[in-house]
Amino acid sequence: MSTAYKPVGWNRNKLIYDAILLCGVVAYILLYLKLAPLLSSSVRAVDTPILRMRAFGSLAFLLLTLVLAIGPLARLDSRFLPLLYNRRHLGVMTAAVAFTHAMFVLDWYFAFSATPKFTALFTSNTSFGSIAGFPFELFGVFALVILLVLAATSHDFWLSFLSPPVWKAMHMGIYAAYAAAVLHVGLGAAIDGTNPMTALFLSASLAALSVLHLLAGRREMAIDDAASRIDAKTDWVDVGALDAIQEGRAIVGVLPRGERVAVFRFKNRLSALSNLCSHQNGPIGEGKVVMGFATCPWHGYQYRLEDGCAPPPFRERVRKYRVKISGARVLVDPVAVPLGTRIEPVVIDGAPPPASPPLPSRRTSP
Ligand code: HEM
Ligand code: FES
Repeated sequence: MSTAYKPVGWNRNKLIYDAILLCGVVAYILLYLKLAPLLSSSVRAVDTPILRMRAFGSLAFLLLTLVLAIGPLARLDSRFLPLLYNRRHLGVMTAAVAFTHAMFVLDWYFAFSATPKFTALFTSNTSFGSIAGFPFELFGVFALVILLVLAATSHDFWLSFLSPPVWKAMHMGIYAAYAAAVLHVGLGAAIDGTNPMTALFLSASLAALSVLHLLAGRREMAIDDAASRIDAKTDWVDVGALDAIQEGRAIVGVLPRGERVAVFRFKNRLSALSNLCSHQNGPIGEGKVVMGFATCPWHGYQYRLEDGCAPPPFRERVRKYRVKISGARVLVDPVAVPLGTRIEPVVIDGAPPPASPPLPSRRTSP
């Protein structure tokens, strides 16, 4: 939903976010270099380049854990949503920190070998048969390649070029990067065997991510169960009570094939749209009506309530459903109408007519 190509979409909020992120990265590295030797005698014994490399490696792992925690955190508590909106910037920063770690490694561990350092990285350890001496660096290489590919394709240009489903599937590779990073750090620590902090660090990350994903999954299932009853008389889906929808907001129901639908109430009329934003599959129904348009909470993409189309000059469209009121309940036809079909909003009995047509709108860049 943008008319001009910009290599990076920055706005004031994102600049502030990036500045805080950068300060956090610098503070972590400086604190690690100062504090780690004071806290551990085994760390005191290592050279400064190794310490530097560990500082960046541990920060990359920490940031990767945070990237993966943001999704479930935002589902569990909306105060984490600003982190979600900026997740791509965090991902790019994670790739940059991991890359710096790898460069320090190459310039210290492999720079003095008889072969070029990249050749040495892939050939110096071939103990594939043993766990304790396994070339754990290769898992690091695998994780880094994924992180760099995801960072390079994080811009909206790639999102529209690849299409949201392909882009999303590709970016799920972040879980493969995390699994590889866990093996990299775990096997690396097994070789060294002198620093119990690494095992603690790994276990804490794995435990936190597992608990968060389980809690968020349970909550989503409970929401789906509560919002997917089929009305016996009409075969339409009962998405909830009319009075549960606040003015300018939506309730979200689940259709038989699992697609979520958002029913918005605006000027005492009801309109049903797919809950899946065509930008990055954000949950439109968790947003609100802004200047007459259903507005996705993730990056502000907007859709007309009558036909699910973005206002000109934008061309995004989301699926549109028929809706009706039965007593105090709101029912949705589970079969979507053809994309772009206009359906007049359903008037809630006794509601006044709308004062004026909605104004055209602008949105901020993602
Ligand atoms: C080309 C890619 C990579 C290479 C060659 C590489 C290599 C290494 C090596 C040789 C060590 C052992 C250092 C030591 O303690 O003596 C190490 C440790 C580590 N690496 Fe990597 N790595 C790579 C990518 C990554 C990535 C992508 C991450 C995380 C996202 C990561 C996280 C870590 C961590 C957390 C440690 C342990 C630091 C500690 O002991 O506190 N590495 N890496
Ligand atoms: S997902 Fe980005 S605006 Fe909806």
